[in-house]
Amino acid sequence: MSERFVLGVIGGSGLYALDGLEDVRKTRVETPWGAPSGPLLRARLEGLDLVFLPRHGEGHAVSPSAINYRANIDALKRAGVTDILSLSACGSLQEHLAPGHFVVVDQYVDRTFAREKSFFGAGCVAHVAMADPVCARLSGLAADAAEAAGVAQVHRGGTYLAMEGPQFSTRAESALYRSWGLDVIGMTNMPEAKLAREAELPYASVCMVTDYDCWRAPDADVAIAEILEVMAANTHHAHAMLKSLARALSGQARTPSPQGIERALDHAIITPPS
Ligand code: ADE
Repeated sequence: MSERFVLGVIGGSGLYALDGLEDVRKTRVETPWGAPSGPLLRARLEGLDLVFLPRHGEGHAVSPSAINYRANIDALKRAGVTDILSLSACGSLQEHLAPGHFVVVDQYVDRTFAREKSFFGAGCVAHVAMADPVCARLSGLAADAAEAAGVAQVHRGGTYLAMEGPQFSTRAESALYRSWGLDVIGMTNMPEAKLAREAELPYASVCMVTDYDCWRAPDADVAIAEILEVMAANTHHAHAMLKSLARALSGQARTPSPQGIERALDHAIITPPS
């Protein structure tokens, strides 16, 4: 029997529920790492089995640094998901990446420092490869779906600066990240992407641009009110994108990731078995 896709969806700011779900079952789970951000919503969308998890909790009560990333990834793994799609708001570090655009990122610079970043460390050391941190197959399908959903512009690839937050960047930081040639900035994709790799789960991330951060003009600071306005439009497109992606994934058998992500730990564990 061929394998089917079971999609884990981690919803960011503005995405606390999904439209058009059938057979919805809400379950509260615990993991050895503690509780995930919220209940898991198991459902079918356009014939696809999916498991939805609101990254910031049901009422957006969990700040980026307080998210239990290990519990979130572990809960999705135990729920049987085969792949993870991350949806999140981000700031733009480049003129051509405008608010309302979606960037399907393919690289990261991780500047977070106050988060648990690995499932390994206590008695078992592992070093997984992160050279190519996202699943190219799922990223491509997500970008196709975003285009089908009518997103103003979909950018295939881009480098995401993960910052600790919760405060936005200073102008000097924003200028520094631009001088590094980075594309978007957000607070949540790391260590999520690293932990997904340790869990041998293909991960793709659709970043929805809400603002130009603070680099663009001295009087154009990040304003929460403006971000919320763009976020509402982005959320509408995200729902349509997910429906389109669900249709594409439910219509095909799942083969192993061409990047071998399901075998990421094969040569990563350093500690000899005792
Ligand atoms: N999320 C949305 N906009 C952001 C920004 N400018 N910086 C960090 N995270 C964000």
